[in-house]
Amino acid sequence: MAKLSVLGSINVDHLMQVGAAPRGGETIEAKQYQIVAGGKGANQAVAAAKLGADVAMIACIGADAIGEQMKQGLMDIGIDTKGITTITGENTGVAMIYVEDSGENRIGIWPGANAALTETVMAEHKAAIQGSDLLLLQLETPITTLIAAAKIAQAAGTRVVLNPAPAKALPESLLRHVDIITPNETEAEQLTGVAINELSDADVAANKLHTQFGIETVLITLGKRGVWLSHKGEGKHIAGFVMKAIDTTAAGDTFNGGFVTGLLEGQSMLDSVRFGQAAAAISVTRMGAQSSIPTQVETLALLA
Ligand code: RIB
Ligand code: NA
Repeated sequence: MAKLSVLGSINVDHLMQVGAAPRGGETIEAKQYQIVAGGKGANQAVAAAKLGADVAMIACIGADAIGEQMKQGLMDIGIDTKGITTITGENTGVAMIYVEDSGENRIGIWPGANAALTETVMAEHKAAIQGSDLLLLQLETPITTLIAAAKIAQAAGTRVVLNPAPAKALPESLLRHVDIITPNETEAEQLTGVAINELSDADVAANKLHTQFGIETVLITLGKRGVWLSHKGEGKHIAGFVMKAIDTTAAGDTFNGGFVTGLLEGQSMLDSVRFGQAAAAISVTRMGAQSSIPTQVETLALLA
């Protein structure tokens, strides 16, 4: 089985279900409160593992009980956690999440130990990156580390997939080492300056990413409208699944984990996108981040 390395964040998500998020000066009582495992890196690693991939994670946790618990959770589903470093004097990353009745969320994060995933810490695990077929990255850990990791991957022939979330301006020195990029509409606009309203805008944005940075494959996720897939300048719209959203937290992470799992299994680009879309569609019907990620069996059932 082809191997996947995920380099990224681990967060503890404090999830409050509310009618509508509080406005300035307002205090509201939540309908539900849960502490669940999150962080874009960990969510994507869990999605890939649950959907059938052989996954190693490179990340940092704080020297606290909750961090250990998060790491144990990853081990329990078969993820190789040798690349997870405990940082003394730091908290495990935290996300405060409001989920509104509409299914929409608002998230504030405190990076904590995720900010300590330096180039030096990463380099201790470079053999894992070199021994993988694919490296999956997001933007909740330091950018300088992502650049260094992407270079190591590229030199070793490991495919680099970047999910540029949460939205941030990125240096060309990172984008140049990326083979596949998977922004949502906001992130695509941040990277290209093109506001994505029509599918034709997605095509323009994708072509900018191809020509300016030499990125071979661009996948712009369009929420309910599905995905714009552009491979070497050949664009195509792939419609999504229509589901009733309860909580969209980690839908993007589930898509990314599923998509790369499809690629690692040798599926076509199109089938890999469909697999990721099906997994993400199920995840929005459930509360929480990792708690909402479906299994391979559930996902294949939706596709059948
Ligand atoms: O993408 C969802 C994730 O973003 C949450 O799990 C939260 O930890 C934030 O990082
Ligand atoms: Na969810």
